[in-house]
Amino acid sequence: MNRLVVVSNRVPAPAAAGAQAGGLAVALEALMERRGGVWFGWSGNISEALGPVRIAEAGRVKYATVDLTAEEHERYYNEFSNSTLWPLLHSMPELMTFDRRNAQIYRQVNERLADALQPMLRADDLIWIHDYHLMGMPQALRSRGVRAPIGFFLHIPFPSADMLASVPEAGALLRDLLAADLLGFQTANDVENFAEVACRLGDALRMPNGWLNVGGRRVRLGVFPVEIEAQDFAAVAEDAWRAAPTERLRRSLGGQRLVLGVDRMDPTKGLLQRIAGYRRLLETRPELRRRVTFLQIAAESRKDVVAYRDLRSAIEREAGSINSEFSEPDWMPLRLVARAGARSTVAGYMREARVGLVTPLRDGMNLVAKEYIAAQDPQDPGVLILSRFAGAAKQLGSALIVNPHDADEVADALDNALNMGLVDRQARWRESWAAIQGTSALAWGRSFVGALLRTAATPPTARGVSGTHTGDEAMLAITDPLGMIVRPLGSRDADLADGSSVLHPRRMS
Ligand code: G6P
Repeated sequence: MNRLVVVSNRVPAPAAAGAQAGGLAVALEALMERRGGVWFGWSGNISEALGPVRIAEAGRVKYATVDLTAEEHERYYNEFSNSTLWPLLHSMPELMTFDRRNAQIYRQVNERLADALQPMLRADDLIWIHDYHLMGMPQALRSRGVRAPIGFFLHIPFPSADMLASVPEAGALLRDLLAADLLGFQTANDVENFAEVACRLGDALRMPNGWLNVGGRRVRLGVFPVEIEAQDFAAVAEDAWRAAPTERLRRSLGGQRLVLGVDRMDPTKGLLQRIAGYRRLLETRPELRRRVTFLQIAAESRKDVVAYRDLRSAIEREAGSINSEFSEPDWMPLRLVARAGARSTVAGYMREARVGLVTPLRDGMNLVAKEYIAAQDPQDPGVLILSRFAGAAKQLGSALIVNPHDADEVADALDNALNMGLVDRQARWRESWAAIQGTSALAWGRSFVGALLRTAATPPTARGVSGTHTGDEAMLAITDPLGMIVRPLGSRDADLADGSSVLHPRRMS
């Protein structure tokens, strides 16, 4: 079996496995634990000297990490990754800042990480790079002579060509990415946007069946929606629902219905708009006052970035304003908790909640939506309200789908969900559960790695790369975007057979 080398900016500390760490780390944990390999990236520490790669082993995983300098942390992580690329890729240019010096340091960090990784690599490795922090890595590794198959997965959305063009570096980053063999995205829409941008800015040509021709090389595009350990999460939620933290929450509610939001405190999550929707509910349906409590868990995130600090103040202001306007001596409409809870504890809260409110303005997938569905009691499920701009909406169409910008629509959905009868709730929940119950983060990881192996094993002629391409071939890919999906549904790759089962993932701790 080829050794898997995962590269991501955020590498969980071995001891922190199972803690709330953002979608990327949560999604990869299961695969790394079962398959083993190397997980390479930033240590999470800042040090002034460029220190050595630090290695820590836990189970079958070797964690290899490097520190960032204070300037790198500021310009690569806070600035270019989280203040330029993050808002841009989420199609929120009004939040974007750009500075050429930050772009240079971003590139330097990608190069430096490639320098540190390259000596550790073996010829038969499979390299899987993750997310927007590391878009320069595929080319940085190739230019250091790395020939091993390289896959790249973007956990967040990929915007339209016009949107991307607002960053002067976009063309260069595109070309760096195209040095990979396989590029994976959350939805078919992201693949379509990327293919168009690759042709406009990266000199790529579309080929049939999801291939691009980049100067005679072939690059494959695919859709790999990130999944959760659905059965596992359901079992955890059932146990947690009976445990002390959920019991205390239930007692504190005194029979009121719980509306629950669980997010990182991030401008893309639509928290201010969500609170505005809840305010509209309280204004227009006074009969619901005292009968409902909205608990928003908004884990503080990226607190050195100005937009995130501003957001926190604005949310606290809005939460305070709702509470002073609508509270009564013995009732408070909104509880705001700015800390992450343990995933198992939050799973119990999700099962207790009559409504799961997941209304990002834009989101690659949103695993909280899937977790909320998995956490429900099939006999008495709650209702998921889900933004149409979350990747998860493609799979969870039986949720109440809303436009998160429209406070009235969110208020109507809340009213509908809070008053929905059991038969309707069960029918909607069953449909959503059917979409995710057979899925797992492990199977997601395996499907990407399997596709990377197949991509690397496909001879160039079978990939249709001949150097001459007809307009018909290009048209075929354009008119048949579904042909771009390479996700092997329900399949298992012989190369990946490691004795573990896709359908019986590990229990979450
Ligand atoms: C999202 C991104 C991840 C990131 C996570 C947490 O899920 O896609 O790449 O790790 O947020 O953000 P942070 O900045 O704390 O790593």
